[in-house]
Amino acid sequence: MAFAHVGHSVRVLDQDPMRIQSLRAKMDPLGEPHFADLLGALEIEFTTSPSAAYIGAEAAVIATSTPQSPTGAADLKNVFAAAEAIAEHAPSCLLLVKSTVPVGTADALQRGIARRFAVVSNPEFLREGHAIADSLCPDRIVAGGTPDAESAVLNLYEPIIAQRYAAFGAVSPSARRRPFYWMERRSAELTKYAANAFLATKLSFVNEMANVAAALGADIRLVLQALAADPRIGSSYLRPGIGWGGSCFPKDTRALSSFALESGYDFRVLRAVIEQNNDQVRRFFEMIRDALEHIDDVKIALLGLSFKAGTADCRESPALAVARLIQDQGWALTAFDPSIPKGSPEAPDGIAIASSAEDAVANADAIVIGTEWPQFQDLDFETLRKLTRGSLLFDGRCIIEPRVATAAGFQYRGICAVSDQVPD
Ligand code: UDX
Repeated sequence: MAFAHVGHSVRVLDQDPMRIQSLRAKMDPLGEPHFADLLGALEIEFTTSPSAAYIGAEAAVIATSTPQSPTGAADLKNVFAAAEAIAEHAPSCLLLVKSTVPVGTADALQRGIARRFAVVSNPEFLREGHAIADSLCPDRIVAGGTPDAESAVLNLYEPIIAQRYAAFGAVSPSARRRPFYWMERRSAELTKYAANAFLATKLSFVNEMANVAAALGADIRLVLQALAADPRIGSSYLRPGIGWGGSCFPKDTRALSSFALESGYDFRVLRAVIEQNNDQVRRFFEMIRDALEHIDDVKIALLGLSFKAGTADCRESPALAVARLIQDQGWALTAFDPSIPKGSPEAPDGIAIASSAEDAVANADAIVIGTEWPQFQDLDFETLRKLTRGSLLFDGRCIIEPRVATAAGFQYRGICAVSDQVPD
């Protein structure tokens, strides 16, 4: 859509006829902000036919999923199937690989299926919930190929690099050109994994630091405020919680760890980061269990199920992992998530979904915050306290102001709680 918005003629191919139908009807299959509005304003041809999609194309883009195989490596069958279809139907043209693929995949395509194309690795860095803004106004554009392909890629991206497009919704062109990094294919492929692995490492470090602060009676929020003031550290990706999830960080960190090992390098830091992340949910659940296991017929209200705020996506969601542990404990659970309506067929794992936070907390022994939805900060905690049976509030995302919860009569616990039982 970003390419179409900046003036290129775009055709979109997908094998799923339902998805193509919904896109033709200008409907957003993903719930991405601004998507439907932008789609409505564009003329894009949607098709399930490879020949219709590729005929006369000057560039073909592979953006298929790369799910995780049982070994942790990326499963590339969709990427190779797309490359075969392009080789069968497209003229000789630029072939951009946007899917997140292990280092060496684009080289393998160039040597094999796509010999007559100029294969370019061109990873994307989109965040769910910000896909339109991140596409039209990216922090950077990364592309890798042989030197003769650079000018064609630059031409394709020039309107985005120069930020020459009509403002759309909340997205306005930046006053600054966007940086363009040209390199060889392998480096471009690795850049994507390095970005996700670095951010995941930063988060796991912060989560580990929060656990250390809790053990030592320090206030992690104050520690992080002071850390964020150092421009070398920065303030983003510094909020502690029950771990990072979604369709990218978990899959991409495991894939990087796996193909690094295949190439003979044991990426120990990354292995520890993944392990820490798996542990973080378990530690949080144990905190809840230890506080409640002496009570009969425990009932928990879980606020948030999606892997982060701003999306209904529950893939590898830490909140969902907490929900499963609560269910495994045999406790009653009611969840509220602003993105998942009551009665939704998409409610994961048969979890009972309430239509509001107030409904979810009625008669609960404890409230658990699982996702960082900002609207949870605006809840009326005094009203919630009147509705709950118990007074425990476990904040898994460090978004509730402890003083507000305590003033309303809750016992504030969680990843950022300051312990009153400190060692000497
Ligand atoms: C991520 C990358 O940010 C993006 O560049 C890449 O293209 C795809 O993967 P996304 O999966 O949308 O994007 O999630 P992101 O917004 O990065 O959040 C990932 C996880 O980290 C979420 O579970 C979120 O709750 C968690 N997170 C994020 C924190 O716990 N604390 C923070 O401070 C930030």
